Amino acid sequence: MENTYNYRVVRQFAIMTIAWGFIGMLVGVLIAAQLIWPDLDFGLPWLSYGRLRPLHTNAVIFAFGGSALFAASYYVVQRTSHARLFCDKLAAFTFWGYQAVIVSAVITLPLGITRAKEYAELEWPIALLLTVVWVAYAVVFFGTLAKRKIEHIYVANWFFGAFIVVVAMLHVVNAAVLPVSMWKSYSVYAGVQDAMVQWWYGHNAVGFFLTAGFLGMMYYFIPKQINRPVYSYRLSIVHFWALVFTYMWAGPHHLLYTSLPDWAQSLGMVFSLILLAPSWGGMINGIMTLSGAWSTLRSDPILRFLIVSLSFYGMSTFEGPMMSIKTVNALSHYTDWTIGHVHSGALGWVGFITIGSMYYLIPRLFGRTEMYSKKLIEVHFWVSTIGVVLYIASMWIAGVMQGLMWRAVNDDGTLTYTFIESVKATFPYYVIRLGGGALYASGMLIMVYNVVKTIAAGKIEDAKIPALPAAAAHA
Ligand code: HEM
Ligand code: HEM
Repeated sequence: MENTYNYRVVRQFAIMTIAWGFIGMLVGVLIAAQLIWPDLDFGLPWLSYGRLRPLHTNAVIFAFGGSALFAASYYVVQRTSHARLFCDKLAAFTFWGYQAVIVSAVITLPLGITRAKEYAELEWPIALLLTVVWVAYAVVFFGTLAKRKIEHIYVANWFFGAFIVVVAMLHVVNAAVLPVSMWKSYSVYAGVQDAMVQWWYGHNAVGFFLTAGFLGMMYYFIPKQINRPVYSYRLSIVHFWALVFTYMWAGPHHLLYTSLPDWAQSLGMVFSLILLAPSWGGMINGIMTLSGAWSTLRSDPILRFLIVSLSFYGMSTFEGPMMSIKTVNALSHYTDWTIGHVHSGALGWVGFITIGSMYYLIPRLFGRTEMYSKKLIEVHFWVSTIGVVLYIASMWIAGVMQGLMWRAVNDDGTLTYTFIESVKATFPYYVIRLGGGALYASGMLIMVYNVVKTIAAGKIEDAKIPALPAAAAHA
């Protein structure tokens, strides 16, 4: 066993990535439809928008994104360390434990059991289980690094490592609660401190869960898919340290114009503006890896997913700092502009880099050289690209329109528009968003079919760990 990689757990997480991705997006499509036709909850409380929305965010971020991060980090750390994962049993525990957390979310959220903190909804018994699973994850990941046979720790592992450590820290601090019953607890923080801790958590969940871990994927899968080294290794190190330092301070941009002290709001705004630099440094490093081989983009749809993900990353990390400027946020906050921003990051960046990485991984995990159908990857790419563009463009227009309508005043100081007029004006954009979302979700269905066909003709086989020349081996 010690001379092969542990692909079993990678396979399990990779399959669940695709399954949860499709389910989570289907719930996204349902809630997008409910915003157009509110009766689609059929009068059932557990189908109501307020309960399904957190189900959507948990399913896409933690079930889809989380499973992808487990799969990628377990694969990459083994391949770049020339070592089998530390402790097979613990690795298996992280898979079953993490899936148990997700299933608990799928049951409790529609029942209305929630801590009512965004992206931290799960009640204390589930949060506790997640803590245990996460500690096990850290032991497996860092344990593998500790037994590596390659002296150098490749930069992708730095990003995965930071993601694991920071998410543990965020989760433990923000989940500090006083339980009053099995399914009810109250935060130990009060008032504005509670809000600050929540958005320190929330923003770094974006920075470390939805960004750092996926940058780890970017640094491994893009060079692998093009078969060239990363553009600048030095830039990747600067990128890493600048990003992890800066993200930590930007959380207050979620609390502009609230009772949070003004200096803290300005601090959040300034750090958010600075964040543009490391974010774009990373994007440029990824895209320039293609330098000299641009034509590959024409023939390789997997690479296209990976590279286009970086364009969306660049777009959302330009937009985010702009939205952090207080005067801009005065317009964007509470509007669908935020939803457009979220999904250019979520569908364009997180979704595309994951899809590209999974298309790279699946054949290799099932003893095949490539996916069942390249043509279907091509179709998937175009369907989802059109889907994202429809989604984010409609939300941008709707958002700016809402912001302008809400602030418009007549000469006598009264509001020009009632709130319901802005809702009515938004209607067509919600229909376009639903169309875009449905396209994106159907792209996932194409992927499910392609993956099933690939696996059906594949075999379950773990790759051998190569024997190293003595010079390259760890002392
Ligand atoms: C330099 C990078 C970024 C900055 C400075 C930034 C900044 C912001 C700002 C100012 C908001 C609006 C806050 C509000 O008005 O309530 C926001 C919301 C949000 N952003 Fe970003 N953003 C960045 C990148 C990203 C990326 C790459 C993603 C996703 C992968 C993302 C996901 C989100 C989410 C999920 C929200 C909504 C939070 C909520 O529930 O209210 N952001 N961001
Ligand atoms: C087919 C794809 C998807 C559709 C149709 C969809 C639809 C939606 C809808 C309708 C909302 C609620 C918006 C509102 O309250 O006004 C929402 C929220 C959200 N979605 Fe999605 N979504 C999709 C995929 C994703 C993916 C892949 C991710 C993350 C990786 C994601 C992350 C989020 C987040 C973080 C929010 C909360 C935003 C906030 O509070 O500001 N979504 N989505």
